[in-house]
Amino acid sequence: MSRRSLSLIAVVAGLLALVAGIRALREHAIVSAPLTAIVFDHQDHFAVKCATCHHNFFDDTGRDSCYFCHKQRPELALNVQRDFHTLCRDCHAQVANAGYDSGPVRRCDGCHDWSVTQQVVPVER
Ligand code: HEC
Ligand code: HEC
Ligand code: HEC
Ligand code: HEC
Repeated sequence: MSRRSLSLIAVVAGLLALVAGIRALREHAIVSAPLTAIVFDHQDHFAVKCATCHHNFFDDTGRDSCYFCHKQRPELALNVQRDFHTLCRDCHAQVANAGYDSGPVRRCDGCHDWSVTQQVVPVER
């Protein structure tokens, strides 16, 4: 193999290692970010079936706080924002689009209380 193709391979390998390193840093930052408190009241949601939110009552994932469990397991913590925004915010958006009173959609602090945080130690399973 020529010296030129060898150095090309070295450059590509270096770039791949850099990308993998950046991804690992990003994942670590997401998983280790503290959990922020969420505003939620069952009274606003009496019309919604329990099972819409409490999948864990039926699928044996376990009885625990939603957010804590989702935050504690790294593979769930990576998607916590997407999963909960899809559940909570998308429903509010649908209800609002249909012209009814809904929960917050764009106001972040309608749901998030950034002043109250809890560090969750990740647990691998
Ligand atoms: C719109 C979503 C939603 C609906 C509908 C809902 N809950 Fe919840 N529930 C939550 C959230 C969010 C929490 C807070 C969990 C936390 O603090 O991490 C919670 C907490 C709880 C808890 C205390 C924690 C636990 O898991 O043991 C109980 C008990 C509970 N809900 C029962 C019910 C029952 C029974 C119904 C149906 C009558 C219901 N919920 C409907 C979202 C919902
Ligand atoms: C003890 C752990 C645990 C608890 C408690 C828990 N979950 Fe989950 N949740 C999981 C696991 C594990 C998955 C992934 C399930 C799968 O991929 O089939 C999941 C998946 C989800 C998803 C994504 C579903 C999808 O379409 O992929 C949402 C949204 C969710 N949970 C919301 C909640 C809410 C809201 C609560 C509380 C009312 C809750 N979870 C309580 C472990 C938990
Ligand atoms: C299936 C639909 C649905 C889901 C899922 C849902 N909500 Fe709601 N939420 C509503 C509706 C409808 C209202 C308005 C109730 C009213 O005003 O009578 C509401 C109201 C609220 C309010 C009160 C806003 C205010 O101004 O008082 C908050 C906060 C809220 N939701 C947070 C959440 C969070 C957090 C989740 C996810 C854990 C969630 N909601 C999941 C439908 C939903
Ligand atoms: C309808 C309620 C709702 C609204 C509105 C909302 N969020 Fe969330 N968000 C949640 C829930 C529930 C979670 C998962 C529980 C948690 O992280 O405490 C979450 C998770 C997150 C996370 C991940 C936190 C972590 O612990 O890893 C970020 C970041 C975030 N939201 C940012 C935002 C921003 C920025 C906005 C406004 C543009 C916003 N959210 C609006 C409900 C909401």
